[in-house]
Amino acid sequence: MTYTVPKLKDFSAETLDKRVAELVAALEAEVNTVASEAEWKVLRDRWMARKTGILSQINEAWLKAAPAKAKPEVGRKVNEARLLIEHHIVGKREWAAKGTLRDLMLGERLDITLPGIRRPLGAEHPIIKTMNEIVSVFRNLGYSVEEGPEIETDYYNFEALNFPPNHPARDTQDTLFIANQESKPLRDRLLLRTHTSPVQIRTMEKMKPPVRVVCPGKVHRNDAPDATHSPIFHQVEGLAVDTNITFCDLKGTLDHAMKALFGSSVKTRFYPSYFPFTEPSADVQISCIFCGGTGYRDGGRCPNCKASGWIELLGCGMVDPNVYGFVDYDARKVSGFAFGMGVERIAILKYGVDDIQLFFNGDVRFLEQFG
Ligand code: PHE
Repeated sequence: MTYTVPKLKDFSAETLDKRVAELVAALEAEVNTVASEAEWKVLRDRWMARKTGILSQINEAWLKAAPAKAKPEVGRKVNEARLLIEHHIVGKREWAAKGTLRDLMLGERLDITLPGIRRPLGAEHPIIKTMNEIVSVFRNLGYSVEEGPEIETDYYNFEALNFPPNHPARDTQDTLFIANQESKPLRDRLLLRTHTSPVQIRTMEKMKPPVRVVCPGKVHRNDAPDATHSPIFHQVEGLAVDTNITFCDLKGTLDHAMKALFGSSVKTRFYPSYFPFTEPSADVQISCIFCGGTGYRDGGRCPNCKASGWIELLGCGMVDPNVYGFVDYDARKVSGFAFGMGVERIAILKYGVDDIQLFFNGDVRFLEQFG
């Protein structure tokens, strides 16, 4: 017997539930009999046609006819019924349009001999790849990983790292400041971190020695972009604090790391330098990987090391005792070293890239070479 919409004699929840259940049973039975697209269209019109469909009929006969008091509840039920009708009928459509899998394979709509659609895999960005490689060298030595915010306060980026206010060493950092901070005390003013060294302070604030961490991350400086400069770049910071850590430990650790990154024949040399938060401080140079440290290749001067045989790669030093004062470490009991290396610089050397901008332009032809 075909289903027709009954008039409601009373509008109690009980009656409504029964009528909706009958309607849904009829709907499901009819949906099940549909076997072609043409039959589906008849079904759709019977249930969903704008003025005469069953959906419109229940609106008229159930909802509109309901006394004001019962309207909210009847409205909810009719709405539930509407969703079910739409769900069943729309859901059936795709099936009806396609027919069975057997029909599909016999017909022309699916040619299983056609090649599939290839979904190309992305490649890891060379900077992230290099950064992960550096981090894993130190993880293998027992270091853990710490991260800090890219928007820092003057306190973490400078003050606690022993840069006094107005000290010329601040100028070496080409800082980008967040605007309109003048009303705050200097130490609370926000800036884009110029190095990952503030993570040293954040780490020592929350951990007691022994500490061995590396801190990878993005840093910002007010540098005009060219082949060797970018206002955004990446660093990996390192910090080891314990009892009796010496400059020998620093040398051994970084010599090992450079050999792990560039090959076991690479030599390192420590050249005196200056950072406010380390004393003594050094720049680490590696023997030129292009000329084997000789300064000459292809019958002329090596352009990569300007014939010096050495390439400068990172900054480091023994943590200045003043820094321990900011984090409540006892400078008489502990000692440590820190280092910071530029990830782009290392990637440029490892992969022979001649322009730092290539890392940031997003040209797939460059990036896919690292896949
Ligand atoms: N933060 C320094 C820089 O960006 C590098 C550095 C880190 C030097 C740790 C010494 C110790 O130039």
